[in-house]
Amino acid sequence: MASFTEKRLSLHRNLGERQQENEALKSQLGRLQHLANIGVVSYMIAHEINNLLTPVGTYAGLALNNPDDEDLAKKALEKAVRNCERASKITESMLALADGREQQKKSCRLITLLEEVFGCLARDFGKDGITVDIRIPEDLEVWAVPVQLQQVLMNLILNARETMLQGGGILTIKAMDNADTVGIEVRDTGEGIEPADLKGIFEPFFTTKRGDSSPSGRLGAGLGLAFCSRVIDAHHGAISVESRPAEGSTFKIALPKPQSGNS
Ligand SMILES: Nc1ncnc2c1ncn2[C@@H]1O[C@H](COP(=O)(O)OP(=O)(O)O)[C@@H](O)[C@H]1O
Ligand SMILES: [Mg+2]
Repeated sequence: MASFTEKRLSLHRNLGERQQENEALKSQLGRLQHLANIGVVSYMIAHEINNLLTPVGTYAGLALNNPDDEDLAKKALEKAVRNCERASKITESMLALADGREQQKKSCRLITLLEEVFGCLARDFGKDGITVDIRIPEDLEVWAVPVQLQQVLMNLILNARETMLQGGGILTIKAMDNADTVGIEVRDTGEGIEPADLKGIFEPFFTTKRGDSSPSGRLGAGLGLAFCSRVIDAHHGAISVESRPAEGSTFKIALPKPQSGNS
């Protein structure tokens, strides 16, 4: 009998120890997940800053090569000031996102946000044979952290531009008021996405742009869409894609309105 009671006690002790170990492992896992999250966010910040620095470098180079063109010099300086401000805001805002801090959302006119995004880009789309067709009602407002939503739009626009660089095409940006949400669509007539790739494209570091072997000849970081997905999640919205190879892609965002309790 005594040995049976001892066995039970020992089993209880054992169970208690395992439970403690389990708790310790869970909290270690939590800390590691937090670190991994910070790692991915750091890459994303670097990616977004790169998106903003490229046009600054392009314009500064053009201005240096054309020292008599005052307008160009002014444009280069304006672009540098605007994009540097944006880079500092997006860094702050991404760090807050990584910490899970609630961000200041506000009502903003979508068309104004979008015009500012085009103002930050490097090249005139027309020069690459890309027609831009914007269909956004003048007074349509979205409930968002402005700098974050602008970076989302910038990433979708840059991907669309890249896929049409070779053969030109049409970039259509539409938005509509859908009762509880505002819908935004960014559509291109580029290469489209293989069905097998569709599942992976929102994952961090997924890219099909591998330098010389990719049609654009570019090396991708695979962070643009992962960034978009995080930001839209933090807005309690949804992002999805419809695409067919050789026909193009449409990225769709649904952003809740504040009165649906998602501020
Ligand atoms: N508009 C698009 N047309 C075709 N493929 C796209 C488009 N947008 C994204 N993709 C695919 O999704 C992948 C991930 O995109 P992204 O996260 O922006 O990373 P990156 O552009 O650095 O590759 C791309 O490599 C590409 O395969
Ligand atoms: Mg990209």
